Amino acid sequence: MKKVDVLLGLQWGDEGKGKIVDVITPNYKIVSRFQGGPNAGHTLEFNQQKYVLHTIPSGIFRDNTLNIIGNGVVIDPIILQKEINQLEASGVDVRSKLRISRSAHLILPTHRLLDAASEHAKGKDKIGSTLKGIGPTYMDKTGRNGLRFGDLFQPDAQERYDRLKQKHHEFLQAFNEIPSIELNENAWWDAVHFLKQFPVVDSSLEIDTALKNNESVLAEGAQGTMLDIDFGTYPFVTSSNTVTAGACTGLGVAPNRIGEVMGIFKAYCTRVGSGPFPTELNDEVGEAMRKEGREFGSTTGRARRCGWLDLPALKYAIRINGVTQLIMMKADVLSIFEDILVCTGYHVGELTTNEIPLYLEDAKPVYTKLSGWKSDLTTIRKESDFPKELTDYIRFIEAETGVPISIVSVGPDREQTILR
Ligand code: GDP
Ligand code: IMO
Ligand code: MG
Repeated sequence: MKKVDVLLGLQWGDEGKGKIVDVITPNYKIVSRFQGGPNAGHTLEFNQQKYVLHTIPSGIFRDNTLNIIGNGVVIDPIILQKEINQLEASGVDVRSKLRISRSAHLILPTHRLLDAASEHAKGKDKIGSTLKGIGPTYMDKTGRNGLRFGDLFQPDAQERYDRLKQKHHEFLQAFNEIPSIELNENAWWDAVHFLKQFPVVDSSLEIDTALKNNESVLAEGAQGTMLDIDFGTYPFVTSSNTVTAGACTGLGVAPNRIGEVMGIFKAYCTRVGSGPFPTELNDEVGEAMRKEGREFGSTTGRARRCGWLDLPALKYAIRINGVTQLIMMKADVLSIFEDILVCTGYHVGELTTNEIPLYLEDAKPVYTKLSGWKSDLTTIRKESDFPKELTDYIRFIEAETGVPISIVSVGPDREQTILR
């Protein structure tokens, strides 16, 4: 029987998951998001058009593939409705290709308010959340108070909503200052009525049936391993399990049904929001990376922090996820540099280590210098045209991690992808 392949981020998100999911979707009958919500922004480019997806899986542009929003995802109905409308306006047939899990939790307008109040109260220690209500919604899920998509079909849906909203108002009393944000409850309910037209499914059953019919399934991660609630740089993380295990719980797939695990990483590192980032470059080199890589958030527009590739963090992510193949993105961005540094270890106090300390802010990077290729990669379409220094860079990473790099991306477009 077929297994579920997983594609997920190995760094701090924005590795280019959306682009690669779109590229490989023709190989899959189902593409499914398993965690996160509209904090994600997955960008795809083809035919000179750019699209950013927040909740909808990145397989939506291909015919013959079903897209499932799994039980582990949190949905903001207003954002999802807007996404669907925008796609339909550009000619994408969303209706016949999108399914929503009955167990996915809903982001209420008051969850966004709680998110904003919580961040505001943290002051300079703030997480740098996207303020989409993600944390409070997952808190209600684990606190056993949440509202699920399937609950909306019950006759007492409005009462359930009102009870939860009332609880949120009680929580809000605990904050000294409550930011003023528009709650837009009418738009929320309108969006709910709109979404109820879509097929509501049990993602576990849908996927099991597909596998039994020998159809392939891809699970699309959001965020990245270093933002995982358990394995990321806590507390500067998101509120879900972004790792392979999250695909099991976020879709209802048993661990022994997981197949290939494709781990995606940028040829350097970025991070948006607060939290430790050992290789961060707060200088003109980091500025040049940001400019060349157009490193501004797809969801919030914030400037992304930039730095060199961090191999100890990458190896850690490979271990936790059981990565079987690597995908390297944005190699073209490094074309501007004469030399390329790679972090191959950390100094933590007196110690030199390859392991991730509990407080990553204590780690000072130890670098290895490699030669840059100083040539344009964006028009390359086959591996034999790679400059020698790029091949050396790839081989170095493969040797360090022990995992093959199966795809190299040299630009944002679908076509700028080299399968090895
Ligand atoms: P995701 O959240 O992992 O899907 O990634 P994002 O879409 O947030 O960020 C990746 C950004 O890099 C997007 O703007 C992509 O269009 C762009 N991108 C993806 N692959 C490449 C690449 O190989 N080279 C360049 N220059 N840009 C890329
Ligand atoms: P994609 O799927 C990059 C970051 C936020 C913040 C922290 C918590 O596009 O890779 P949250 O909104 O979850 O409370 O924010 O996580 N973050 C992301 N950073 N890419 C993302 O998603 C992110 N989703 C959340 O910036 O630091
Ligand atoms: Mg993104």
